[in-house]
Amino acid sequence: MKSPPPPTLPHAFLEAIAKRLPGARFGEPLAKHTTFKIGGPADVYVELKTEAEMADAVRLADEHGVPLTVVGCGSNLLVLDSGVRGLVLRLKGDFERLAAGGGTLLEAGAGVRLPKLIAWAGERGLGGSENLVGVPGTLGGSLVMNAGTREGEIGDIVREVRVLDRQTLRVVVLAPRELEFSYRASALDERLVVGALLELKAGKRDDIITRIREFQQKRLATQPVHTHNVGSTFKNPPGQFVGRLIERAGLKGLRVGDARVSPVHANFIENMGRAKASDVLGIVAAVRDRIRSEFGVELELEMRTVGEA
Ligand code: EPU
Repeated sequence: MKSPPPPTLPHAFLEAIAKRLPGARFGEPLAKHTTFKIGGPADVYVELKTEAEMADAVRLADEHGVPLTVVGCGSNLLVLDSGVRGLVLRLKGDFERLAAGGGTLLEAGAGVRLPKLIAWAGERGLGGSENLVGVPGTLGGSLVMNAGTREGEIGDIVREVRVLDRQTLRVVVLAPRELEFSYRASALDERLVVGALLELKAGKRDDIITRIREFQQKRLATQPVHTHNVGSTFKNPPGQFVGRLIERAGLKGLRVGDARVSPVHANFIENMGRAKASDVLGIVAAVRDRIRSEFGVELELEMRTVGEA
């Protein structure tokens, strides 16, 4: 243990976690695990490598009434400054596996990052996922959010999703009609995604790779790809582009502490160095107020927030 266990969690839980999941870290700063490089500590942080470990972690949390949060690769996540109480899980090992599923099917673990999945599929002449280039998240997080771009969403290519049932601790398979994909939402919220079977399209390897590169070039030209950010801050309001609205309101470059509205894409917030979650929330509040007063539009967050302020 790096630091003394937080007093709020039952001692029996901490002991059981240390025994069953020896890689567990106590008081782990989540700023290390988000693309924003922002966030207070997790009471307990575990990188799970197998489905059996996931079942163990869930069982222990539920037995002791400890809250559980899955964080993916932290690419769409604002972790608040006082951190996250309870158990925080990240999926590695077996959850990062990719395998041909026969024909145009691809099997992937929830911890696989989408850029890797898209490139892997392209190399094997499987297209249909390249319009997701630029979404940095893991497959699991992307499914929960129905991540996407103007060209398509992950929900469009899902054949089935495997989740861990919290009661039985068994993996169950869900069909697309049970997943209720809609704009940046699905019925997978609060579910523990283990992996998915995706249905792609056969194509020529070189054509697919070329399309991937074209999408990458477009993102490089229109998004602040090389800064610390979590992609889109707000959802696009129906029929409008929030980036355009924020730019028209003159808010590009707006700064609160070390956070600022990106001068490249107005729906991105960048951490300029030592931004706190409270700085980001300051920008969120200021942008919301201005867009409401100027255009009468209520903005909804696209990035997720977790933890305590
Ligand atoms: N625009 C501006 N000013 C800006 C930014 C954009 O006028 O500062 C205009 C653009 O010129 C364009 C329109 O707004 O006419 C839409 O911009 P863009 O093509 O960048 O798409 P978006 O709707 O802002 C969505 C996704 C992105 C995804 C892009 C690529 C949402 C909330 N965001 O952005 O996803 O990369 O499409 O197609 O749907 C993410 O999910 O984190 C993310 C980055």
